[in-house]
Amino acid sequence: MTKTVLAIETSCDETSVAIVKGRTILSNIISSQIKVHQPYGGVVPELASRNHLEQINICLDQALTQSGINWSEIDAIASTAAPGLVGSLLVGLSAAKTLSLLKKLPFLGIHHLEGHLFAGCLAHPQLNPPFLCLLVSGGHTCLIAVKDWADYQLLGTTRDDAAGEAFDKVARLLGLGYPGGPVIDRLSKKGDPQSFKLPEGKISLPDGGFHPYDMSFSGLKTAVLKLVQKLEDPLPVEDLCASFQFTVAHSLTKRAINCALDQNFTKIVIGGGVAANSQLRQQLTQSAQKHSLEVYFPPLDLCTDNAAMIAYAGAEHLSRGRISPLTLGVSSRMAITDVLQLYDWVH
Ligand code: KG4
Ligand code: ZN
Repeated sequence: MTKTVLAIETSCDETSVAIVKGRTILSNIISSQIKVHQPYGGVVPELASRNHLEQINICLDQALTQSGINWSEIDAIASTAAPGLVGSLLVGLSAAKTLSLLKKLPFLGIHHLEGHLFAGCLAHPQLNPPFLCLLVSGGHTCLIAVKDWADYQLLGTTRDDAAGEAFDKVARLLGLGYPGGPVIDRLSKKGDPQSFKLPEGKISLPDGGFHPYDMSFSGLKTAVLKLVQKLEDPLPVEDLCASFQFTVAHSLTKRAINCALDQNFTKIVIGGGVAANSQLRQQLTQSAQKHSLEVYFPPLDLCTDNAAMIAYAGAEHLSRGRISPLTLGVSSRMAITDVLQLYDWVH
């Protein structure tokens, strides 16, 4: 039976509450803290948790009103439990557990990356595993073989900065503010991606070759820094953005396509904030077409953090008979392959 789940997402700088019935989003309220953190050039954890506390009840009310349903139609309460900022996660988790006790509904803790892995499914009703997921967010960049729900294998990862982190750091050094991804994406449209040849981070192997799927973005960031130090004012910001963005998109596209072909996947699903990037969407779409692969992107509002993807993950686990104990805590780190640690089996 199709499950209806109310979910809370507070792992970083977005307070979000959503109600999802199967794959249908009934409401998805997102209160962004960007303005709170902008003066500091990045997320300040203490400010994030305080802000979640201020926003959570407002978002809950709005999500319930907008969904047009009442409590009797909700099957479970879910909340992101890991990974993320501990203080922020605790706000959402405590609220979810309280609601679960109050309304006598099952509670599910959700792995944040699992939300991103399947966000594309919310927009593509026929999309199901197996598929290869390119997960590109502010904190993670990896290629994951999604064989089934909770059956994941990490095939490639960044050895240093995440793709989103690289966008944010390059934006900071160009004086463009936080978060960097959307502004670099916008400015790149007016720049020439071929103006500067930037290095694509490759991971050397002991045999003299390169790791086929692992990547690195810290060298690229340093290359942009050196260029900025060498170039004279006024800086060609748009060309720098376009060249940087092109290099990141090329590096991700090459690895995702090679990985899908090597591992016999026919579908690539993209998830995480950087999945909103227009150059990445363009390069991946073109390259996938050339190799007869299917590629799926979530709509822009489901790329970045949102509770709809957490609710959907909750609905899938619940329909497989999984719920979490109310003693579940939060965790700043947790491998995606350990996701079943969050659940008890119920019959
Ligand atoms: O998935 P997300 O909302 O949060 C994490 O789980 O980390 O991703 C946020 C990241 C930020 O680093 C932001 O700069 C990046 O996604 N981002 C983008 C774009 N929109 C957001 N990066 C490149 N191009 C974009 N259009
Ligand atoms: Zn995220």
